[in-house]
Formats: sequence, structure tokens, C-alpha cells
Amino acid sequence: MQKLFIKTYGCQMNVYDSERIADILSPMGYGLTENPDEADLAILNTCHIREKAEQKMYSDLGRLRDRRDERRQDKQDMIIAVGGCVAQAEGAEIMRQAPYVDIVFGPQAYHRLPEMIARAKRAKDAKEGKVGKGVGVVDTDFPLESKFDTLPQTEVSRAASFLTIQEGCDKFCTYCVVPYTRGAEFSRPAGDILEEAKHLARLGAKEITLLGQNVNAYHGAPILGDKEWGLARLIRAVADIDGIERIRYVTSHPSDMTQDLIEAHRDVPQLMPYLHLPVQAGSNRVLEAMNRKHTRESYLEILEQLRQVRPDIALSSDFIVGFPGESDKDFEQTLDLVRQVRYAQAYSFKYSIRPGTPAGLMELQVPEEVKSERLQQLQDVLNEHQLDFNKASVGKVMKVLIERKGRHVGNLSGRSPYMQSVTIEGNDRLLGQIIDVEIKSGHANGVRGSVKLVS
Ligand code: 5AD
Ligand code: SF4
Repeated sequence: MQKLFIKTYGCQMNVYDSERIADILSPMGYGLTENPDEADLAILNTCHIREKAEQKMYSDLGRLRDRRDERRQDKQDMIIAVGGCVAQAEGAEIMRQAPYVDIVFGPQAYHRLPEMIARAKRAKDAKEGKVGKGVGVVDTDFPLESKFDTLPQTEVSRAASFLTIQEGCDKFCTYCVVPYTRGAEFSRPAGDILEEAKHLARLGAKEITLLGQNVNAYHGAPILGDKEWGLARLIRAVADIDGIERIRYVTSHPSDMTQDLIEAHRDVPQLMPYLHLPVQAGSNRVLEAMNRKHTRESYLEILEQLRQVRPDIALSSDFIVGFPGESDKDFEQTLDLVRQVRYAQAYSFKYSIRPGTPAGLMELQVPEEVKSERLQQLQDVLNEHQLDFNKASVGKVMKVLIERKGRHVGNLSGRSPYMQSVTIEGNDRLLGQIIDVEIKSGHANGVRGSVKLVS
């Protein structure tokens, strides 16, 4: 058995891809390891969304090279591969910066990894003895054949499973690299998705998170003569699959929140009362410069409609502070929107210039200190609201899907319907179960509770 180490950066789409990469390589005799020291093949599945993620990848790569050199002293080797969005954006340039990298592959080409690995091995054998340099296999195509058509079914059971239904983005927000790295918007056919969802359910999935960079723009090809599928219809069909008790979807764009999707939050009990709906900023001037295609008012109107059909819905968002031209007054409007909505959780970032994006060329870039100050201010408010939300759960009994062991011995950790991280004390046999938990205390990053009843 050969050992495969995968490190995943960035979003859940990458997590799904990494799982599928493990599925593809398992028949080739690669078993997963969490220890990069023993890896025969090490893959970094990278993220290009902000500069920081990219820098982290390069420093991790340097460490892998050192490990590979140590292994070579013991007459072992390591194939080093870089996948994901940095690979897509930079291609062979990665090998100029890190010449010891053997394989660079894009997110649409990973079904071809077995072939790339075979090529890398042949090239390594051919240059035996010439240590130091990688062998230079690059595949960052957007192939005509879809990877989804050739990927093997997973055999790994996960109570909370991810399922990619859509990839790419046609929105072209001016700060964002996604339309360039993941390409044009593409929806998988509904029939294929439902097959995969049934397979996951058979393997033991209780929760499915439907994934896409623009998941609510989903428009899947019809199943035999029927009409095109939207996300709401797909959610209803997944809810009909035996064993699927919870459904989530991420990430959505406000301008694709259709009426039938909002109604699904009212009608489909399996659809969890949680929505991640990024707003990015609270000022219309900034939203327009970002090419967001929604206004502060249209966004708030959607939240209002969601709260009407599902009053307990927990809301989450992404924010960017320090977008070019953002004034103190603009930023105040972001704070004001946050105070109005009171998010249950949120992610906030300093604007980061991305190569090739229109905002990178805009004048009036905001100084780093101003960005840091705004981020701190914003996070103070967001954290306060998140803590309030978690504290408001105390005394409630919630259904929690126990996903993994906790950080401390005897602890288990899972998610509430509202996506809160829940820690309990309990026996490992609860792993993968949905159980009733009484919430005892609320904290900054989650809640603690105790088991009520095993369902
Ligand atoms: N700078 C900072 N944050 C960004 N995001 C996307 N592009 C950038 C950028 N250039 C954030 C957005 C998006 C999340 C995934 O990452 O908030 O919703
Ligand atoms: Fe990027 Fe905007 Fe597309 Fe989201 S909607 S992936 S932020 S371009």
C-alpha cells in the first residue's frame, strides 16, 4: 500500500475534490495518511481566493521538499503534486518558483491523475539519480469530457457528505478570481446528482450539503424530456431520498434567491434553517463597484422574505473590508447592515488584490492599516452577535449530527440545525448519529451540551 497525503486549502468545493481524488487513487493502491513524512504522494489542493492562502501553499511546499529530501536519504521518494485553484491560475509558473514540484493539475483535470502519476513515475525512473528537480507534468485543461462522468463512486461513508452540483461562476465580481480559476458556470445533470445522492445515502449519509460556487444559480439538464431543474426542485428531490434527514446548500448569490427556493425553506423540513448568503458590503456604492448585481435594499428584502417563511433561520455572510474606494462612510454602512441583520456567524476578510481582476487595477486602494482597523471593528460586532446567538440557544434541545471526535478525550463534536458547532461528552458509538442535545452553554465559536435521548 502506497501512502497518500492530501492537504486541502480554501472552500468546501476543495474538500469535495480532495475526497474524490482519494477515491480515484484508492484503486491504484494509495491509502490516505495524515502524516506527510510517510507520503509516497503528497498533494496540495490549493486556494487562490486571497494572497494569504497562496503564500501559505508556497511555505508548505518548501516543507514538503525538505521531507522528500529526507526520504531520499532512506532510499524512498515522494511525488509532489499541486492541484486546485493556484495550480489553475499559475500552471507551469509554479514549477519555476518551486522546481521540485512534479505535477501541477487544475480542478477540472483531476480525473486524469492516474495518468499524470504514471507519467511522473516514468519520468522519475528515466532521470534516476538526478535529484533535486521535479519531473514537470502539467495539466490545467478545461477538458471537453467532464470529470464527473469518469470519477468512480466513493466507497467512504460520511454521515455529513458533500456533493458538488455546480461549478464555476459567470458573475464576475470585480475582486474575485473564481470565474478565471473555476471557469464558466456549469451545472451537473439532475439525474447524475440524484444518483450520487442515493449512493451517499446507501453508504450512510444523513446530511448532504449541495455545493457550488454559485449553487443557487443551478440549472441542471432535464431528465428525459422533462424541463430544466432549478435548485429548489433538486432540494425537494433529494429530500425524498430515504435516509437523508438534512440538506444544506452553499454558496449562494443574492440575485439567484428565487421565490421557489425561498418557499423550499418553508416547505421542506429536511432543509436546515441556516443560510450562508454573502453580502460583501453594506454600501450600494461599493456593491456597484464590486459588480455585485444586488443592492443593500434588495439583499435585506430577501432576508426579510426568508425570515417570514422560516422565522428561526440562522444567517451567515462573507464580508470584504477595504475594497478600493471604500470610505469611512461606506464602511459605516457595512456595520449598520450587520447590526440590522445580526448574523449567527460570518466570515470577514481584508480586500486582497488578485492578479487579472478588475479591482486590482482600480485607483484608491485602501491602505493596509485602514483595512486592519476596519476588519477589527467589523469582527468585534460580528463576534458579539455570534456569541449572543450561541447564548440564546442555552436551554434548548436540538438535533445534532455528531460528526467527529472532539479535541479533548471523551468529547464529540457535531453541528446543530443552525450550523453551530456543538461539543458534547459521549461515547464514540454516537459518531454519525443524529441525537437530541440539550444546550448548556454558549461560547464565541459554538455551544456545549449534553445528550438527551438517542434517536
Ligand atoms: N479579497 C478578499 N476577499 C475575497 N473574497 C473573494 N475574493 C476576495 C479578495 N480578492 C472573499 C469573498 C467571498 C469569499 C469566498 O472570499 O467574501 O465571498
Ligand atoms: Fe466570485 Fe462573485 Fe462568483 Fe462569488 S459570485 S464566485 S464572489 S465572482
